Amino acid sequence: NTLIALSQAMPKTELHLHIEGTFEPEQMFEIARRNQVTLKYHTIDDLKSAYQFTNLQDFLDLYYQGMSVLLHEIDFYDLTMAYLSKVHSENVVHVEIFFDPQGHLSRGVAFDVQIKGIYRALQDAKQQWGMTSKLIMSFLRHLTEESAFETLALATPYLDWLDGVGLDSSELGHPPEKFLRVFQACQALGLYVTAHAGEEGPPEYVWQAIHAIGVDRIDHGNRALEDDELVADIKHRGLTLTVCPLSNLKLCVVDDMKNHPIQKMLALGLNATVNSDDPAYFGGYMNDNYAALIRQTQINKAQLYLLAKNGILGSWMTDSEKATHL
Ligand code: HPA
Ligand code: ZN
Repeated sequence: NTLIALSQAMPKTELHLHIEGTFEPEQMFEIARRNQVTLKYHTIDDLKSAYQFTNLQDFLDLYYQGMSVLLHEIDFYDLTMAYLSKVHSENVVHVEIFFDPQGHLSRGVAFDVQIKGIYRALQDAKQQWGMTSKLIMSFLRHLTEESAFETLALATPYLDWLDGVGLDSSELGHPPEKFLRVFQACQALGLYVTAHAGEEGPPEYVWQAIHAIGVDRIDHGNRALEDDELVADIKHRGLTLTVCPLSNLKLCVVDDMKNHPIQKMLALGLNATVNSDDPAYFGGYMNDNYAALIRQTQINKAQLYLLAKNGILGSWMTDSEKATHL
């Protein structure tokens, strides 16, 4: 299939990727063994057979369990390096990745242990392959505003290594406004801001992310399509949506890949991009996400180029950095 070959060969960016969601079962068992941690699942096949989700929370329960074997800086380095080398082989040239510090702090793993391991891998990828990156600290929205502020305080010695902040975890019942003051503090520090919105949550949460928080990007955004005024507003602002096709399928945000709204988003003039979210859990990395769209929908060559171009324009690279990829 020539479109698949084209999508593999295109230089791509990844703007929506949780590093803890790249934890492949094989590596999880290896790190569990060396850290003498016991996993609830006894074999790789046992674990993989649990990867059947009916909603976001189903997945999150497993995601937090999986990351619990990460204890030392080298674990975070190895996890990040495995991801970067995988997507380097897929012609991903720039990544903007999330990590979830609170998912590790709650287990007694210090902030500096986490960020030092992740950041060193990002630097090595730059050195080895010229791959560029941004690092985004994401707040867990099921936790309190106070906990988010505590996390931000721990991050302040590392502001040079951080480019932005995000908002993830259980969306329903945890609107963006819950973290308004935290995000204001982050913006005052010069950080970019993005938030998961409209994955399971209503269009109202996307409105809040834009108008109350003032996000620079929207992660997912699927349910924004239910509100025509909101669509017009997103288009008018030129906001980028970091869309995740295989994630949407696995978490039942879409019922069938055939019905994925990404082409509709493009047709409406929205800056949609393709991303893998939690590739180890959702059945594939960047190229698999493109392949699924190509195989299951009528997406054409011009749309594939546009998606990749949107990924470059929607990144937090400088204009001159973007220009080197266009
Ligand atoms: N949504 C919300 N929280 C998450 C996700 C997601 O897709 N992946 C990891 N944390
Ligand atoms: Zn996500």
